[in-house]
Amino acid sequence: TRTQDEEDLPHATKKTMADHLRKYESLFTLTPQRMRMIVEAFTETLELGLNKPNQIVPMIPTFVFGWPTGEEKGDFLALDLGGTNLRVCLVTLQGEGKFEITQTKYRLTEDQKQDDGQKLFDFCAECLNTFVETNMGEGEGQLKPGQCLPLGFTFSYPCSQERIDHGELIRWTKGFGAGNTEGRDVAAMFKKSLEKFQLPIQLTALINDTTGTLIASHYVNPRTKIAVIFGTGCNAAYMEHVKDVPKIENLGIDPAAEMAINCEWGAFDSFEHEHLPRTKYDTIVDDTSNKPGEQAFEKLISGRYLGEILRLVLCELIDEGVLFLGQNTYKLERPYIFDTAFLSLMESDPTDELLMVIGIFTHFFALETTLAERQFFRALAKLIGRRAARLSACGIAAIVSKMGYLEEGCSVGADGSLYNKYPGFADRVHEGLQDIFGDKGRNIITHHAEDGSGVGSAIIAAMTKNRKDAGLY
Ligand code: GLC
Repeated sequence: TRTQDEEDLPHATKKTMADHLRKYESLFTLTPQRMRMIVEAFTETLELGLNKPNQIVPMIPTFVFGWPTGEEKGDFLALDLGGTNLRVCLVTLQGEGKFEITQTKYRLTEDQKQDDGQKLFDFCAECLNTFVETNMGEGEGQLKPGQCLPLGFTFSYPCSQERIDHGELIRWTKGFGAGNTEGRDVAAMFKKSLEKFQLPIQLTALINDTTGTLIASHYVNPRTKIAVIFGTGCNAAYMEHVKDVPKIENLGIDPAAEMAINCEWGAFDSFEHEHLPRTKYDTIVDDTSNKPGEQAFEKLISGRYLGEILRLVLCELIDEGVLFLGQNTYKLERPYIFDTAFLSLMESDPTDELLMVIGIFTHFFALETTLAERQFFRALAKLIGRRAARLSACGIAAIVSKMGYLEEGCSVGADGSLYNKYPGFADRVHEGLQDIFGDKGRNIITHHAEDGSGVGSAIIAAMTKNRKDAGLY
């Protein structure tokens, strides 16, 4: 049965949308063979980053040594500067893999992300101060006189570390651009801001969200060997043998020890663009970003960019006179206005008429759509979302191959809005792993990770304190 909507539509229009879709299908689809080639190049890149300092994919030694025992205990503060929000948490680790958490989120404005770096850290310290006053002030009974709380600061940008409470910002990612920060020790900058408030708090560890996720996931699920964030940005961490990180040979660390590595894999294929299948929409996203050439892998995958990629395709079809003829499209023509959450919504619309898609286009962009167009938009979202998941599978596969985890299998702790909210994202990653490895790909399973930037950061602060008390590095 045909709907009213289809009857209103000239047959040619429907055919045109299908024709266009075919073109985008060939642009955005990744064959298993292509994926295997990417995995090969990716694996070599990971090795290179471990061998030599200052590589594009920097493979950062985190000074987080080995896995938690699950018996870490105590009260810890965690500060999380991610991409969208700032979060302050009080975490009580109770041992046996158990914990309690109290938290508050603060919104970051676009201006704060671009303004002076020290001001950004001042704001972080101010939020921490408010949190402590509200949750731990007099009467709350949480702070004993003379007690100094250890703080884990999750700062989710590439920082090269010499020790765990130090980190030089290599470069901003995810659209941040705060001045006077790149090349400087952000831990020292934050300590300076903290001093202004004279809080009974000590910065114990500076960590990346992926490292926190790795440790937190392992705390509750010891099969976890790798952690991946699929959020505003995309990155992974895993546990490496110190003997296999030649670039830190001269530090005198026990070669038999293990250390977490923050890959910063979002930078894979940056500048050279040799390995990844970039469409012209990806090139536009890159060229118009605040960091052209950088984070090439991340720009094809993460939540910050997927909506923009889809929007650019729609804009092209508007220019070609295929879509929204006679309607005013200015609302859709604003960069980054098409949120990645819209792709999730379009894909999860359960109605035949695609009523949620109607809602998005009328409500946010004042545009009327036909059913054929809506089906096209949804199919396009699927292509872009699927490509992101399959490319992510290539990154995971590279770590799995490098570490030899395929036979015994392993669990991958995953977090971030894309992983948690995008329908079918995890299934597509798993499907991708099977396309790369065949049936054995089933041995690699992702699961929703424990809160890395909160709980993970607290566990790392506890591990660091325990090591210090034992007189270790
Ligand atoms: C970006 C950051 C990285 C972070 C990731 C996920 O890739 O550079 O440090 O882990 O986003 O938040």
